[in-house]
Amino acid sequence: MADKAVAVLISGRGSNMMALVEQARGYRVALVASDKPDAAGLAWAAARGLPTWSLSPRGIGKPAYEAQLDRALREAGVGTIALAGYMRLLSDAFVARWRGRIVNIHPSLLPLYKGLDTHARAIAAGDAEAGCSVHVVTEELDGGTVLGRSRVPILPGDDADMLAARVLAAEHALYPRILTEFVMTPLDRIRDMASLLPEAAERADRGETVFAVADRPFARWTDGGTLHIRTAASDGAAAEWRAIDLGADPDWTLIEDRIARSWELSAPAHLLEAGGR
Ligand code: GRF
Repeated sequence: MADKAVAVLISGRGSNMMALVEQARGYRVALVASDKPDAAGLAWAAARGLPTWSLSPRGIGKPAYEAQLDRALREAGVGTIALAGYMRLLSDAFVARWRGRIVNIHPSLLPLYKGLDTHARAIAAGDAEAGCSVHVVTEELDGGTVLGRSRVPILPGDDADMLAARVLAAEHALYPRILTEFVMTPLDRIRDMASLLPEAAERADRGETVFAVADRPFARWTDGGTLHIRTAASDGAAAEWRAIDLGADPDWTLIEDRIARSWELSAPAHLLEAGGR
């Protein structure tokens, strides 16, 4: 699986960017960019040999700034943009140009507390928990589809800074995982799941990607985007193939279980006796 090229946009310390770099799976950080040439995270990235880009919009205006940012992203071959503490609002035109390919980490349980001062607002409201969310960026501030959340309890005596520190740790665990899932195509994910099963092998076969164990197929992915797996026949007869339409929002936990069961229906006895999956 070719790692997907991601740009991380920062405005300051960049601790989320560092987490995205250090925990990268299924993607590679092809550019670290900033609207603040003195952003601390830029130096960290450059010291690790990562390509960096920075420009202050001051004096040139947003359209010119975004045009140069856009060029830098395309020249770096970027397919996905991850905002990580990037504090400058993107124009509607820029969001439209990168429709569905920009994600952001926000320090609240969206849709609660869009905007700033999220921790102080959660504490003031007497909430029992706070957290962070990764969402797709749209024209609406903090308004796009939420791809993942992580909950953090608010403890007695917490102030905004104490809570922010615990939420930031949760951000560093959540963001790389969600970004990996976001850049992976459905086939990437199926391949990832199949590769965890004992003696699973992959081959291309007449427009399908076939996953087999001991040469017995247990999952087939068609170029049209349909997954076929084996299921136990209701009458106990031989397992039969079933097509699964992933739909717009696949339940990957369920799909992983189905693929594993299909592996069990296909695997030779010695592999099952050896403890199977
Ligand atoms: C993070 O809390 C993030 O959720 C918010 O800005 C902060 C940036 O921190 N958008 P860092 O620069 O990644 O350390």
